[in-house]
Amino acid sequence: MAQTKHAMLVNADHDEAARQHFAVGLKSHLSAHVASGTKSAYEARVKPAYRRAKGRVPTTRHEVRRALAHDPYYQAASALKRTAQEIMWDAVGAPVEREWEDLKARAQTCSAQLGSLRLDPALKIPRYHAAVDIHCMPGGYHSEIGADDLYAGALYDRGIYLFSMGLRGDLNDDFGHSLVAWVRSRYPSLSPKRILDLGCSVGHGTLPWADAFPDAEVHAFDVGAPMLRYAHARAGALGKSVHFSQQNAEATDFPDGHFDLIVSQIIIHETSRRALPRILRECHRLLKPGGLMVHMDGIDWRGLDPYDAFVPDWDTYFNNEPFIGPMHDLDLPQLAADVGFSRDKIIFATATSARREHENRDRSELTSGDFGNVGAFMVFGGIKD
Ligand SMILES: C[S@@+](CC[C@H](N)C(=O)[O-])C[C@H]1O[C@@H](n2cnc3c(N)ncnc32)[C@H](O)[C@@H]1O
Repeated sequence: MAQTKHAMLVNADHDEAARQHFAVGLKSHLSAHVASGTKSAYEARVKPAYRRAKGRVPTTRHEVRRALAHDPYYQAASALKRTAQEIMWDAVGAPVEREWEDLKARAQTCSAQLGSLRLDPALKIPRYHAAVDIHCMPGGYHSEIGADDLYAGALYDRGIYLFSMGLRGDLNDDFGHSLVAWVRSRYPSLSPKRILDLGCSVGHGTLPWADAFPDAEVHAFDVGAPMLRYAHARAGALGKSVHFSQQNAEATDFPDGHFDLIVSQIIIHETSRRALPRILRECHRLLKPGGLMVHMDGIDWRGLDPYDAFVPDWDTYFNNEPFIGPMHDLDLPQLAADVGFSRDKIIFATATSARREHENRDRSELTSGDFGNVGAFMVFGGIKD
């Protein structure tokens, strides 16, 4: 398992790398060997006890979760999983702090190369980011502790690689490549002039679009300034031209009808019930007539057995991802219709990982790892009339 080196990636020394490897080893062990014990505990004692008490078995993921909440095996497995997550971020943060000054110098060199960066220090950070450190990443995506801060970006680039145990690819770009492949297979003649990537973080999912459509102007934005400084420098380090800006997807400063293609990868589940309709309305405004909007996120849980649907909901309650569960309760096609997409032009589909490593897994197995490490993704969007 080796992440692709580039000039902005933080260099861990021997002891820091050992701590990072320990964190991944622990996460992999929990995912492969401990998580399955929860299912055994559920089948052997929790479900039978529930049936005795209520005369039926749990029928929703919420009932499964509430029934398991007091089970000692689930409590221990859950505490270990949360601890592993915190150990991982600590192990990633130490070398970022050590390289702080050098990282800023490297960013200056790399950022000078390609694309552009537009920051807005007055941007109000939405409450769904300011109130929680999403997936326990210290400081979240937006916090700044010094001038020209890159901390969150550097932390995310390495942290997400370890968090996903390398399953998102050597450049953490599987979501981007998977969505590009899905779009190309459905719309082979698509040739966008302007592409917009919402919630780009450090550009993991953005660069595959720049590669796929080299003649297009690629724009990407995020609410977090440290993510964007790092994203711009990382794109420069990897030789890609992207125009980054600091904006809220609920209301951007781009003109009406500016984009032929609007994409996002794993941002929807990190927004909120109120924000999502506004984001979709904004996408509709920004699309040209005939333009395509596609958002990719975790798997579609609908139709899963209550236990399988409960497994990824762990992140909702214990990994500071409060909107994951509620997002799956929403009628996304209806939300798209509400903002103006015609019913017959709304997209709701499943795409598989471009890396194809998980293609032979069955659907329930796909839910057993951490959120986002799966091999099948929900694709949701629409074509503007
Ligand atoms: C999980 S990361 C997305 C990763 C990225 N798209 C990729 O493919 O690797 C979610 C990102 O969405 C951003 N985000 C969430 N809500 C946003 C909003 N309303 N406006 C702009 N960015 C937002 C967050 O700041 C964060 O960087």
